[in-house]
Amino acid sequence: MEEHISYILNDLGEHREKYFNAMSPPIIQTSNFVFPNVADFQAAILDELNAHIYTKGNNPTVEILRKKIAALEGTDDALLFASGTAAISMTIMHCVGQGDHVICVRHPYSWTATVLSKYLVKFGVTHDFVDGSDLKAIEALIKPNTKLLFLESPNTFTYELQDIPACVALAKKHNLLTAIDNSHASPIFQQPAKMGVDIIIHSVTKYINGHSDVVAGVVCSHQQIIDKMFIDEYMILGGILPPQEAALILRGLRTLPIRMERVQKSTMQIIARLKGHPKIKKLLYPFDPDFPQYDLARKQMSGCGGLFTIEFDLPDKDSLLKLISSIKRWKIAVSWGGHEALMLPIAALYDLPGRDNPHIPWSFVRFYVGLEEPDYLLADLLEAMDGE
Ligand SMILES: Cc1ncc(COP(=O)(O)O)c(C=O)c1O
Repeated sequence: MEEHISYILNDLGEHREKYFNAMSPPIIQTSNFVFPNVADFQAAILDELNAHIYTKGNNPTVEILRKKIAALEGTDDALLFASGTAAISMTIMHCVGQGDHVICVRHPYSWTATVLSKYLVKFGVTHDFVDGSDLKAIEALIKPNTKLLFLESPNTFTYELQDIPACVALAKKHNLLTAIDNSHASPIFQQPAKMGVDIIIHSVTKYINGHSDVVAGVVCSHQQIIDKMFIDEYMILGGILPPQEAALILRGLRTLPIRMERVQKSTMQIIARLKGHPKIKKLLYPFDPDFPQYDLARKQMSGCGGLFTIEFDLPDKDSLLKLISSIKRWKIAVSWGGHEALMLPIAALYDLPGRDNPHIPWSFVRFYVGLEEPDYLLADLLEAMDGE
């Protein structure tokens, strides 16, 4: 039976009787664990994912977090990594061998594209990027050596979605594994395992932690995949999440649903007031009825977070960057999902020495709505947009 979200967030995975009935779990700050006898040691060695031998394998503080995130995603188990990027790389490496082929949606998170296009090619792993809304195009790319269909829905600049159940059906027909980067929606607003996806990944750095003070990642999947990934990638590559970080994330996780609700509500209020402004050419937000994939977004997501993108109607990069510099309450930064409002002007990434220009036009700015009062954020934006 599916656990209630309130039980997952408050109790699941916690064994308070083992630590003085403390409400909040201790940070088990240890590298290794001792055994009273050889028989117990041998039993643990045979079940390292569940026993406590060495913190590179399983640490009790990290384990509580692992069980909670797996339950939120509706999967058997999960593995926590030192970053979302590590979780993505380990997943792809897990699914392929030398000479295999991956199909990935176009314009995924930049390091997802890089691990495929710059790193795995070293091992003869090939890939194709594809418009994820075009099932025929995906099917046309499937070859005998294709092993994985990698999704990211929505993505995090232009919010392109894939029809997740349709992609899963296609993958199953051709015996491919499916993985999805679910960071945008969070486990609160989208549970891809219920739609048949095999592997669900998050940058825990974003909403799950939610306080802009930890970098972490998670892979959620069936027990069979987690067991194998634990032996094959997790223990070999060793990119683990330390217990101190796990404790911080556990604290953040307790408020995930109310943060998501607040962020969505504020974002809806802000975009409703911004739409129609003369300096805005286009506003992208999956839960805005004008969004091209609005119906699909409503069908497979129960909510939408705090990211929206504005295409400004301005003559050049300089005028855009001038507008950005007059915005004070939204901070210029990468990432998102924390307590604070952020903005990422694509124009700032243009014409940098030794760097390719982004695939996104310079006139796009991505905004992230934090936990501030929406009127406080809106007043600042409108003042900058209405100024000279
Ligand atoms: C959609 C998405 N996936 C994955 C990542 C990578 O996460 P991390 O920064 O934790 O490595 C990011 C980071 O910005 C992201 O936006």
